[in-house]
Amino acid sequence: MGKILITGGAGYIGSHAVHYFIKKSIKPGKIIVFDNLLYGNRKHLPSGVTFIKGDLLNKKEITGVFRKYKVDIVIHFAAYAYVGESMDNPGKYFENNICGGINLLEAMKESGCKKIIFSSTCATYGAPKKTPLTEKEKQDPINPYGESKLAFENILGWYDKIFGIKHVILRYFNAAGADFGIGEDHDPETHLIPLVLGAARDKGGLIKIFGTNYNTPDGTCIRDYIHVTDLADAHFKAMEYLRKNKKSDFFNLGTGKGVSVEEVVKIAKRITGKNIAVSRKRRRQGDPDVLVACNKKAIKMLKWKPKNNIQNIIESAWMWHQKYQQ
Ligand code: UFG
Repeated sequence: MGKILITGGAGYIGSHAVHYFIKKSIKPGKIIVFDNLLYGNRKHLPSGVTFIKGDLLNKKEITGVFRKYKVDIVIHFAAYAYVGESMDNPGKYFENNICGGINLLEAMKESGCKKIIFSSTCATYGAPKKTPLTEKEKQDPINPYGESKLAFENILGWYDKIFGIKHVILRYFNAAGADFGIGEDHDPETHLIPLVLGAARDKGGLIKIFGTNYNTPDGTCIRDYIHVTDLADAHFKAMEYLRKNKKSDFFNLGTGKGVSVEEVVKIAKRITGKNIAVSRKRRRQGDPDVLVACNKKAIKMLKWKPKNNIQNIIESAWMWHQKYQQ
């Protein structure tokens, strides 16, 4: 069997997947990570993994990988993922997340690689009317980030129909938590849990709560936080699924339980034992009230089950924060 090519494998979710695959007995020598290191960090990678610094927007670079190595399956994490930034600079998102993806598919087509697992998002659903959200919900994004991911989902459909490249689309809800000595360390950081823990750690730290008049019990947004290692496990199972069934499919990945922003702060206060000062602000643009996954399809078809809840997620992130973010 050929190699596993992991685009964006030095990033937060990608590097957790690399470590998890090795923990599941995949030999490091089987794994190639392709990453432009814009947001990724080479230090996150275990030894023995082949690392190639490259950008999907450079067609030659990605085609070169497939010419040099026999790749059996691609796990495609590489993308820009800031919802807010995508509202200010949509072209950046469409170019990178769609054109970069097409370069990857073209390189796969040329080399005869027929399997890809794609990191999509619940942001493709937009502001859904129903909760929990099943895969049957209409996909109607409310920001260019979600639109770019949906466009690539559709493109994958055509590469399956025309060239027989099979895919598994994984629509993540809110990835969080830490494992393998790696944590959420974006620059800039915009995500709730690392910001809340940063506010707990830093003297005088403050967390801004964006919006208190949402249609939820305490007025703050509800999200479904999923541990990054549970996501890694879903990729491992999706890989097995694709190899065995040789058919394209798509799954929501969440815990099925929603937690509000106020609740996240409350749980973080309890876990850290620190007072976390909050300042209640106006809504952030593009935030739907509630996003909670129905994860039954992934549980049934992928034989996947998330092991962590919000408690473990915040505990693991806090441990990492204390150890590595001094
Ligand atoms: N929030 C605050 N204060 C902050 C940061 C966030 O109140 O300082 C709120 C947000 O308004 C939102 C919730 O906390 O209601 C979660 O926000 P995040 O920024 O942590 O996450 P998002 O839900 O905006 O986005 C994340 C990923 C996307 C993915 C999406 C799916 O960044 O890539 O989850 O829900 F598409």
